[in-house]
Amino acid sequence: MAAKQFSVLPQHLGIIMDGNGRWAKQRGLARSEGHKQGSETFRKIGEYAGNLGIRYITFYAFSTENWNRPETEVNAIMNLFDSFLTEAIDRLDENIEKGIRLHFLGDKSGLPDELRSLMDFVEEQTKHCNKVHLNLAINYGGRQEILQAVRAIAKQVKLGNLNAEQIDEALIADHLYTAGQPDPDLIIRPSGELRLSNFLTYQSAYSEFWFSDVLWPDFTEEHLNQALSDYEKRHRRFGGI
Ligand code: IPE
Ligand code: IPE
Ligand code: MG
Repeated sequence: MAAKQFSVLPQHLGIIMDGNGRWAKQRGLARSEGHKQGSETFRKIGEYAGNLGIRYITFYAFSTENWNRPETEVNAIMNLFDSFLTEAIDRLDENIEKGIRLHFLGDKSGLPDELRSLMDFVEEQTKHCNKVHLNLAINYGGRQEILQAVRAIAKQVKLGNLNAEQIDEALIADHLYTAGQPDPDLIIRPSGELRLSNFLTYQSAYSEFWFSDVLWPDFTEEHLNQALSDYEKRHRRFGGI
């Protein structure tokens, strides 16, 4: 679809990809079919957001709490990541040509070895790209992210490299998975749920939110256009007047 023009675009857009299970249920399908369809939507919307000129895009794919789901569902989701990574490697030249840098946000150590090595490989191969930063949050939790940052900083204090007074907001931000990236300006959540579910807890302090009842597999470029045209009209004050 041709990219629409906007007077203001978020520099960083976050999307909580929710509603796959309900989409499948409505059709009498297995939940895994919803995730499969959701992964197609992810490809479509990722490409469109990149064409619009949004520089940082974060998709929430799997939370630290999603391990509470049945093993068969978790395995189906992990298999979809595997397919996405294999495809990203197959299309590495094309992605590099487009300037797409891939980042994975989350605790990689909790993921299967095979996935982790594919993730490290793709990150390494695209680290010089800087047109579009595509973040995929996998085994991500905002609280876990803050926790690992606190531990890393505490270690530096213990080693004597840092004293407590030197810890400031910028130092904390530098220890998050999004280090070096701007905070999300706009966060979109489909599926009718009005919550963040542990997404970008620290970074979302001043984010704008856009909610919709549409289920993620049904999300289209038109929904993104709608969210962006609403965002254009928002008045962000950051505590000022
Ligand atoms: C989002 O869809 C995908 C993940 C959380 C992995 P859900 O699977 O949460 O879909 P619903 O909320 O049950 O419909
Ligand atoms: C949030 O969706 C996580 C992702 C979309 C990856 P959930 O479906 O896990 O959120 P809750 O449980 O409804 O809050
Ligand atoms: Mg859900």
